[in-house]
Amino acid sequence: MNRRRRIYEGKAKILYEGPEPGTLVQHFKDDATAFNAKKHEIIDGKGVLNNRISEYIFQNLNDIGVPTHFLRRLNMREQLIREVEIIPLEVVVRNVAAGSLSTRLGIEEGTQLPRSIIEFYYKNDALGDPMVSEEHITAFGWAAPQEIDDIMSLAIRVNDFLSGLFLGAGIRLVDFKMECGRLWENDMVRIVVADEISPDSCRLWDMKTNEKMDKDRFRRDLGGLVEAYSEVAKRLGILTESDNPAAKPGPTLVKG
Ligand code: TMP
Ligand code: ASP
Repeated sequence: MNRRRRIYEGKAKILYEGPEPGTLVQHFKDDATAFNAKKHEIIDGKGVLNNRISEYIFQNLNDIGVPTHFLRRLNMREQLIREVEIIPLEVVVRNVAAGSLSTRLGIEEGTQLPRSIIEFYYKNDALGDPMVSEEHITAFGWAAPQEIDDIMSLAIRVNDFLSGLFLGAGIRLVDFKMECGRLWENDMVRIVVADEISPDSCRLWDMKTNEKMDKDRFRRDLGGLVEAYSEVAKRLGILTESDNPAAKPGPTLVKG
């Protein structure tokens, strides 16, 4: 397996050539970065947890008819995905004010928004992923108007699904980021959800205590990241109740 061709290496993941044409292997690393990789640390066990949490979310999305690139999990750190052409946009959906929205508009963190808000950022590390509008996206050809409509419909469906999923686990979905890709099937192309959805790409607050259970623990130097991600996995039923990952060298995962 070491001889596999590496297609792409990002900050938290590596993509390898898959076993069949049109497939890739997505490998989750333990690297945590923030502020466009100015801050970087290795956090033991993060990749294993994100692989498992993202698998759970993408499998559920597939099951309710929201198309994704996900095929199946292969092992502790890897999943088999369909090869797609990534649209160079980070699609952020917000339900509650936090992070850059609070900073930009001076709205206190934790304020419920009047409705869910979708934002687009141009995926470009050299530029620091600047926020862009639909005008920029169509003018520069990153996505066609119909594709933007499809992306927004997917974003709303994913937000509704995730909000309910986390609500059932006593967690408030404050915001999240998703990416989309173009999937070719014969001569048809359609937009699917790609990349990952995990506590690295969501803001998740405990419903009762407002404690942060996401990558803000790393961004804001709060500590306890693996414990928080393990708690998310446990509440989603991915980790067994009797496991106490904080007391073990690594997380113990349910077989399956
Ligand atoms: P923001 O408030 O910093 O704009 O982040 C909004 C959401 O997007 C939050 O859930 C974290 C996620 N996010 C990423 O997944 N990757 C990124 O590079 C950034 C800036 C945010
Ligand atoms: N993943 C992004 C980076 O390194 C930022 C973030 O998630 O805050 O730089």
